[in-house]
Amino acid sequence: MYDTRDLTKRSEKCLSCHLGNDEKSVDHEMIAAGHPDLFFELDTFSDVMPRHWKVPGEPGEAAGADPWYNVRELTTGQAVQLRQSLLRLASRSHGKIWPEYSELQCYACHHSLTPPEQSWRQARGYPGRHPGNPPWNPSRYAVFRDVVHQLDGENAEKLDSELSRLGQLMSQLNPDRDAVAASATNSAHLADELLAKMNSASYDPVITLRLLQAISADADNISGQGEHSAAQAAMAVQSLFLAYDQNEKLQNSAQLRAAIKGLFQELQNPSVYDPARFADQMKQVNALLR
Ligand code: HEC
Ligand code: HEC
Repeated sequence: MYDTRDLTKRSEKCLSCHLGNDEKSVDHEMIAAGHPDLFFELDTFSDVMPRHWKVPGEPGEAAGADPWYNVRELTTGQAVQLRQSLLRLASRSHGKIWPEYSELQCYACHHSLTPPEQSWRQARGYPGRHPGNPPWNPSRYAVFRDVVHQLDGENAEKLDSELSRLGQLMSQLNPDRDAVAASATNSAHLADELLAKMNSASYDPVITLRLLQAISADADNISGQGEHSAAQAAMAVQSLFLAYDQNEKLQNSAQLRAAIKGLFQELQNPSVYDPARFADQMKQVNALLR
């Protein structure tokens, strides 16, 4: 029997398929041949499955109910997916195919071109890389980073500096295999330490609201890190909002629900994803949280 009640073990199990591991994985060649792209968020995915099991401590379960269970599920799931994706990257860095395109931002390559004067990419520039080099996909860190800054300020700095180094290495045309492996392995250790903290932290309305505010306030930064990062933010905000609303009953719940729905609408056609529009929508969510 596999212990799916343990959030870490459950995420690891889901991610063995939804992210892949050394035994089975989905690379860009498989995606180009028709396999669906991979992305995951534990709380959202557990909710839409639909879940066909009961978890002790979950809302609705009488004994020892933890009303903030979904928040723990979100933060722990984020830590596990970051760690697992870094281990996958470390192992791929010495694989046959390198660079492996599915580690990069899909829509940096797969977008339609506009006249230069209408290009938000050319207006933005290419921070930390040469023009035209495909950037690393940081979506498994973009939201978790805000979570860690709220829950563990000291380690947040460490994680930030290691991951920004990894991001720079991976956003070069031919990333240095050894340097990537070393940095990804270091970062995975940090993520592993944080994982235990996320799983054992105590969650309440104050921290849940703070997480919601922090992620939605980070709109410009997250939206600029690609469609997959934006999707993680939309799922995280939705999860946190549902947890908060269930326990605390927000006055403007209907408006928030509509604003969050608007986030997902911005993601419907990823090839025309526009970070400025997504960020504006996220700012509307943030304004409703004050
Ligand atoms: C043995 C492999 C495997 C494991 C383990 C697994 N899944 Fe899946 N999951 C799949 C496959 C394959 C699909 C179909 C993907 C598709 O067609 O887009 C899927 C689809 C889903 C979907 C629908 C996604 C969508 O885009 O419609 C959800 C939600 C989901 N899984 C949640 C979970 C959760 C939560 C766990 C862990 C408790 C989990 N899965 C574990 C293989 C797995
Ligand atoms: C470095 C550039 C680059 C990155 C990053 C990249 N791709 Fe591709 N992709 C390509 C190229 C080149 C092709 C081949 C296109 C052709 O044959 O016309 C392709 C083909 C595809 C195809 C099949 C063609 C089609 O239009 O259906 C799909 C689907 C696809 N990629 C999805 C993805 C996804 C999802 C990601 C991210 C996980 C991704 N790609 C990342 C360059 C990239």
